[in-house]
Amino acid sequence: MQKAVVAKVGDYTVRRCEPGDVPVVMNINMTTLPEHYTDSFYYDILREFPEMFLVAELGGEVVGYVMNRIEYGFSYLRRLGLARRGHIVSIAVKDEHRGKGIGTALVLASHEEVARKSATECYLEVRVSNEGAIRLYEKLGYRKTGTLEAYYRDGEAAFVMATRIAR
Ligand code: ACO
Ligand code: ZN
Repeated sequence: MQKAVVAKVGDYTVRRCEPGDVPVVMNINMTTLPEHYTDSFYYDILREFPEMFLVAELGGEVVGYVMNRIEYGFSYLRRLGLARRGHIVSIAVKDEHRGKGIGTALVLASHEEVARKSATECYLEVRVSNEGAIRLYEKLGYRKTGTLEAYYRDGEAAFVMATRIAR
């Protein structure tokens, strides 16, 4: 069966995650980020938001992923009011495949899927020390909208970053 391709970056393909990809996605998460989740967390997001759980693949090998969720809550960009928000829960690219535009492609593809669900903004939390990721998000239009002190288990703070999503 044809897999659901959503973007191309050079020889890399961005496509929807499938249940069989989850163990590899979990492994990439384990080796690249200090924030881990139970397997049911991944499968639940995949079941609920299949069109916005994406992987990047090269020659059949999954080398990166992004997981998103749609939420309804207070806007991070307007002073008052509620918004349907896309939440970038987690994104990572394997070390040896970084700096090739895959992270950018995964975020931009997420925005398209989130826009299709009528969300008007996208947000995420990122460690205040994660300069590379912060630069990526700023390049894609995100700005820091707040700081969450001691957000991570080890006590580090998070920036909340958000951007408007064009429809
Ligand atoms: N140092 C400086 N700038 C960086 C770095 C870095 N290490 N990484 C990315 N950037 C910036 C650059 O501005 C780059 O643009 P440029 O290539 O024009 O200079 C821009 O990000 C885009 O880079 P991409 O090649 O599109 O991104 P990449 O495929 O390398 O993926 C990612 C970026 C996902 C942050 C990757 O470095 C990674 O997996 N890091 C470890 C996991 C992580 O920190 N994930 C984010 C946690 S926050 C969250 O999940 C919501
Ligand atoms: Zn989050």
